[in-house]
Amino acid sequence: MAGAVLITAMAVVLLLFWYFTTSTYSDGEPRPIPHRVPILGHAMSFARDRRTLVAQSIVQSKNEPFTLLIAGTKHYVFNKSAEFTEVFKNSKTLDSVGFLRLVMRNLFGINATDAEAFVAGSVKPILHDVNSMYLLRNENNAVTAVAYFDEVRQAVERFDKTLAQSDTKRITKDVLLIIAHFQSEPTTNAYFGKLVLDVDPKILDALNVVNKYGFWSLLFGVPRFLAPKPYRARDRIVHALRILVDAINARDGVASPYIESRVRQLLAHGLCRDTVAKDVLSVFSGVHSNSMPTAYCTLVELMEHSELIPVFRSELQEAGYMVTLPEDQVSIFPDKVPRMRSFLHEVLRTHNNGTAFREVLKDTTLLAAGRTWQLKKGAVVDLPNSLLCATETIHPEPNKFVANRFLDKSLGGWGENFTKTVKPFGGGVSFCPGRVFAEKQILAFLAALIEHYDLEVVTTPYKTPRNSDVDEVLWSPAIEIEIRKRT
Ligand code: HEM
Repeated sequence: MAGAVLITAMAVVLLLFWYFTTSTYSDGEPRPIPHRVPILGHAMSFARDRRTLVAQSIVQSKNEPFTLLIAGTKHYVFNKSAEFTEVFKNSKTLDSVGFLRLVMRNLFGINATDAEAFVAGSVKPILHDVNSMYLLRNENNAVTAVAYFDEVRQAVERFDKTLAQSDTKRITKDVLLIIAHFQSEPTTNAYFGKLVLDVDPKILDALNVVNKYGFWSLLFGVPRFLAPKPYRARDRIVHALRILVDAINARDGVASPYIESRVRQLLAHGLCRDTVAKDVLSVFSGVHSNSMPTAYCTLVELMEHSELIPVFRSELQEAGYMVTLPEDQVSIFPDKVPRMRSFLHEVLRTHNNGTAFREVLKDTTLLAAGRTWQLKKGAVVDLPNSLLCATETIHPEPNKFVANRFLDKSLGGWGENFTKTVKPFGGGVSFCPGRVFAEKQILAFLAALIEHYDLEVVTTPYKTPRNSDVDEVLWSPAIEIEIRKRT
């Protein structure tokens, strides 16, 4: 008798468990992809390799939007350009406020009250205006771009000296260090002023530690005693940026007009210096954490397609790169180097794994690509760029690396338009405001390298990272390149 009661009780518990952990779906919702593990759903495969998970799911759902249950939350995944655009347009009910809150509080360590002002309160419009004014308005963006081009020139001069002093007149360097020297340090000086690297010459290494060991643990609030390394590295960066904030508060001409204006406006708004330093950390991370891995994949892809180097060199020569002063290089990058630009966007298409997330704040009817979808409050919308980039109807032969894919047909290219089809910079309310600089940044880095040096990969064999995610690139086995001065 007691046994029968126990078995019945267990059956009831199991049924209740099943009932409460099985999501129900209405007709209008994207169809669910079946999963085996209750509650967790596809969480493990999503964390391990979301590019493969979404690619397999799109085949299973016959190219229709689908739903993945991830850690108890429904994720609606869309894969068509028109659907991306409609989701971005519905910013009133589809927003990323919860994710941003997590980023500001956990990743950058801003206190709860200030973080709220950043994501949904009075600070949000200040940042929107300062980003639009300095990062997107051409004449202001050009000021920092020119400072960056000049920093790249100085980096070449410094490297030339080291090269000239070496016995063999050749230096072998890890790709990460090449990018640090020719792109990340020049970017740091151009945006944040020389003070930052003077205060902490290892600040970029500290950012790598945060990105390598701590991105996910900080984001999900793992306590400090379980992940001391990234917390310590973050403290170190904030310490240097706090000194920068004090200096900007005391005098002019310390950093770029963008950073100075951002800092001064936040201080005038009443935020404490600690919070403002953490906001500068968010920009420090924004400026480096996507550009560094993109430059990495761009350089390694170029080494794999080394037949393009002479093509790019003649394009740079035609554009007058070697005889153009840094202050005039804004006319070269990106407009006068269409082949290099197409190559960069093909790297972004094939390596970018970014996903834009939007929370469904209210039940929403989405009309996109000729269909109507019912999105339920509490769910999340995922817009994985990798899916869009691998769609045959948008990009013929999507699995092939085609350097000329985005080059105009009149110049012998495939004539695809990256501004319409590739969304590595996101869109809508969180459309990357650094996208204009990012193109100039990576193209000028590449130009400086190939115009001044001959490059040869010495690591054999080597593997290009699949995704330009910062942690994936930092965990990839080192690739070394031998650098010689071009004669
Ligand atoms: C290849 C390089 C880059 C890529 C692929 C990239 C991509 C992105 C993406 C996808 C987002 C949106 C994130 C989301 O939806 O949650 C974003 C946001 C942002 N990016 Fe970039 N980015 C790059 C370079 C830069 C640079 C160089 C800067 C600064 C000059 C920058 C500044 C920012 C900022 C401030 C945001 C936050 C915007 C907001 O939420 O209001 N990015 N970036």
